[in-house]
Amino acid sequence: MKAGGAALVTGANRGLGRAIALELAGRGFAVSAGMRNPDDGASLALEARDAAGSLEAVRLDVNDPATIRIPENLRVVVNNAGVDRAYLPVEHAPLALWREMFETNLFGLVEVVRRSVPALRAAGGGVVCNITSCSYLTAVPFYAAYRASKAAVGALGESLRAELAPFGIRVLEVMPGPIDTDMLAASDRLPEAAEHAGYAAQAEALLAGRRAVAPMTTAPDVAARAIADAILDDASPLRVACDPLGAGQLDAWRNHSDEELMRAMLALES
Ligand SMILES: NC(=O)c1ccc[n+]([C@@H]2O[C@H](COP(=O)([O-])OP(=O)(O)OC[C@H]3O[C@@H](n4cnc5c(N)ncnc54)[C@H](OP(=O)(O)O)[C@@H]3O)[C@@H](O)[C@H]2O)c1
Repeated sequence: MKAGGAALVTGANRGLGRAIALELAGRGFAVSAGMRNPDDGASLALEARDAAGSLEAVRLDVNDPATIRIPENLRVVVNNAGVDRAYLPVEHAPLALWREMFETNLFGLVEVVRRSVPALRAAGGGVVCNITSCSYLTAVPFYAAYRASKAAVGALGESLRAELAPFGIRVLEVMPGPIDTDMLAASDRLPEAAEHAGYAAQAEALLAGRRAVAPMTTAPDVAARAIADAILDDASPLRVACDPLGAGQLDAWRNHSDEELMRAMLALES
């Protein structure tokens, strides 16, 4: 597709969403940068003032449907808003934690998609870009709720891609690896699982593994460029990476059976 028309980005006040909003404005879109508190967006609008397109910070809480307003001539929607919480073993993770994660990462996203599709159809087509995570391609212990919420978005995206293709609407799933944001910084800790009997060694191994890949972290603006490229590329596959580690994970997932990947994870733990 050619850049132009409106783009809506959720969770655009910081992190990856902020970088995507700036990148899309730079490419020529009129960006509605959705955020829970639009005061967070003043510096963002300033940063985008010389962009080929434009950028406006708008209030948007994906969990509050009254705040989800779809701009005129919508061509691209980027479902980026997401949360990550405590890393607990399934037996110790309360349902409230699962619900909180699914509320934002899945149900909030579904509501934005539901409201965007009629506008994309009216505009003659466009792109729905869902940001998930390459973590759901690997059997990472203690990430079950987060991974399940992202995997659910993956399944939704598959159906949506088939459903919307006849309308010229392309569905894209971006599966980031480690991107240098607040979310990644906050995950640099011993998983809470360590406090529960029997799980300490696994939690420590997980932290060590996470730290081993720290040098492979990607800057948000670099990831955002790859995401904008995929949005504009009509030949892009459904699932794409936006950083080297994510690309490696996606490649491994495409080239190995699920049992081979599971065995590799279990071997790491033994
Ligand atoms: N960073 C990584 O390594 C990484 C890896 C894989 C996938 N991802 C995914 O990439 C996306 C962006 O993550 P990030 O690293 O940029 O995280 P981040 O720095 O924690 O930013 C999260 C963004 O989501 C927003 N948000 C949370 N709940 C929201 C809600 N109810 N309505 C609207 N916005 C909401 C936050 O707004 P507030 O400021 O108001 O909280 C913030 O703008 C997420 O979906 C995440 O799961 C990130």
